[in-house]
Amino acid sequence: MAGIRITGWGIGLPDRIVTNEELSQTLDTSDEWIRERSGIHQRHIGGTTSSLAVIAGRAAMDQAGVTGDDVDMVLLATTTPDKTVPGTAPTVQHALGITGGAVDLNAACSGFVYGLVFASGLIATGAKRVLLIGAETLSRIVDWEDRGTAILFGDGAGALLIEATDDEGDLLSWDLGSDGSLTDLLYCEHGDAIHMEGKEVFRRAVRVMVDSSTNAMSQANVTASDISLVIPHQANMRIIQAACQRLEIPEERAVVVMDRYANTSSASIPLAFVDAIENGRIHPGDLLLLTGFGAGMTWASAVLRWPR
Ligand code: UT7
Repeated sequence: MAGIRITGWGIGLPDRIVTNEELSQTLDTSDEWIRERSGIHQRHIGGTTSSLAVIAGRAAMDQAGVTGDDVDMVLLATTTPDKTVPGTAPTVQHALGITGGAVDLNAACSGFVYGLVFASGLIATGAKRVLLIGAETLSRIVDWEDRGTAILFGDGAGALLIEATDDEGDLLSWDLGSDGSLTDLLYCEHGDAIHMEGKEVFRRAVRVMVDSSTNAMSQANVTASDISLVIPHQANMRIIQAACQRLEIPEERAVVVMDRYANTSSASIPLAFVDAIENGRIHPGDLLLLTGFGAGMTWASAVLRWPR
């Protein structure tokens, strides 16, 4: 069976930056509280999910040197589609001149890692190239008067171009899960805004990230000390610190971009991934642990080996 190889990557961000200071002018909060309790300094706000996805997707295709005719499938992880129907992936497919299929995928903040595993399945069964994108415009579903959620979320997109390879490929193992008894912890009804039990989500997030990461590592037959870099969902700095501590992975090995981008749900792992690649933090042969959790609750982890 063919393995997957990541050959292109890109991001898309709206121009407008909203600082904590700016939020504190309309909300009973402060820059200091937000930084200390979450690790967030600012967020990008604006655009549509499809427009951000197109920017990220085009960059990934350009870098891999592929055209629309080469791509068999667009997988778009998002919780904020442009419309309820149709999905947003066909809009992205059309804008990028892609001739393959297109489908949205909603596993909340775990969506990108779910999508990575689905891409691997498509490639194992004959696809040659998949464009995997995580894109969100969470600013559209945030209650800007609720300081418990408004401070946390941002807009953005990240993409990977994934190709078939004859060798084992980059994806060594994965762990995907869901517990639908916990939908009430974090949800958004049609036409409403995000509701979140922040403390309870926090508590469970650490636990599921640790358990899911441990499962993925054991399936890849590697240990925490083998992991060169953790690319976690960017929800709260303290969640990443607690998870790293329990996994016995030094915190410095975790990629953090939430200070700049806040929590962008499906886009947060690819934004962190691309940041790590572009800042030279990933070297040939490195083992990478991707791990996320989100509404559902869902969780998803994967172990990758960056090609030699
Ligand atoms: O990808 C989606 C997954 N979502 C998450 O992972 C979110 C997980 N949860 C969190 O990140 C944290 O629970 C929050 C950042 C949302 C909240 O932090 P916390 O340390 O759990 O705060 P808290 O809710 O326990 O509130 C502590 C205090 C309260 O005041 P009192 O009762 O101690 O007087 C809150 O009213 O902080 C107050 N507070 C705030 N103060 C200033 C809550 N939000 C704010 C705020 N600014 N924005």
